[in-house]
Amino acid sequence: MGLLIVTKEKGIETWVDNLKQLDSNIEIEVYPNVKNKDKITFALVWSKLDIDFAEFKNLKCIASMGAGVDHILSNDTISKDVYITKVVDEKLVSSMWEYLLCTVLNIVTNHYKYISLQKESKWEQLTLNSIEDYTIGFMGLGQLGGEISNRFNKFGFSVKGFSNSKKQIQDMETFTNLDEFLDGVDILINLLPLTKDTKGILNKNLFYKLNKNAYIINVGRGSHLVEDDLLEVLDSKHLNGAILDVFEKEPLPKESLLWTHPNIIVTPHSASLTDPNSVSMQIIENFKRVSKNLIPYNIIDRNKGY
Ligand code: GLV
Repeated sequence: MGLLIVTKEKGIETWVDNLKQLDSNIEIEVYPNVKNKDKITFALVWSKLDIDFAEFKNLKCIASMGAGVDHILSNDTISKDVYITKVVDEKLVSSMWEYLLCTVLNIVTNHYKYISLQKESKWEQLTLNSIEDYTIGFMGLGQLGGEISNRFNKFGFSVKGFSNSKKQIQDMETFTNLDEFLDGVDILINLLPLTKDTKGILNKNLFYKLNKNAYIINVGRGSHLVEDDLLEVLDSKHLNGAILDVFEKEPLPKESLLWTHPNIIVTPHSASLTDPNSVSMQIIENFKRVSKNLIPYNIIDRNKGY
């Protein structure tokens, strides 16, 4: 029984230390230096890599290091019998909530606009708005979107939610019809999973259905957004601004126009990051479960893609 770590990102030692602390007998290998492929029963994976999972004959489970699993599902070498799991963690929810609260309040208080005005040494008092003036539309009502939309609702914003299958959230209007959902939205927050149906969903057609002067916040995946459409609709002045944390290509290439657009704020996929300290326990638990031929926790539905 061995665990394989597959990632391009830094922090491999932290994962190894945390996992070993919880189970000192665990055998860990780090891709691509694998001594014995037949020993690997469990893979802990982040970032898209050209790995051939079929070479690991005894693989039973692939665990995403994060909440998203699109980087795993895009690999077509995974046998149908292999479980795929995601991270479910309160810390992912709380950091995403803090990021989104800060972003939305910066919009409400005109802070993004004041930062631009300061660059030109311009003293200009903008209309004072308040929370009640904004309707937030949440796309994706899963673990993160469901909880965070509810927190915004309790905070005093008017909130609407959209998801593929009907969800009930207390005191909140939820929709499965996209057009009905978009009507009247001032701040659109995307937290959808990336699937073949949601790829490119943030496009020109959708942007024009939002209220004039709306904002887009993308904390889902870069491929949800058609970047050229966003630039076009921002320049047409229908949209007021966009705050983007995820990109089609990460790190965002230096030459991307998104970096320098005056109405776009770029953050480096940092809204919510998995903390190995916080989630290693659930990884070890699932590693042990599959070793005993038990079904792991937090498995995703491969047909749905989340
Ligand atoms: C972050 O993007 C995650 O999927 O957890």
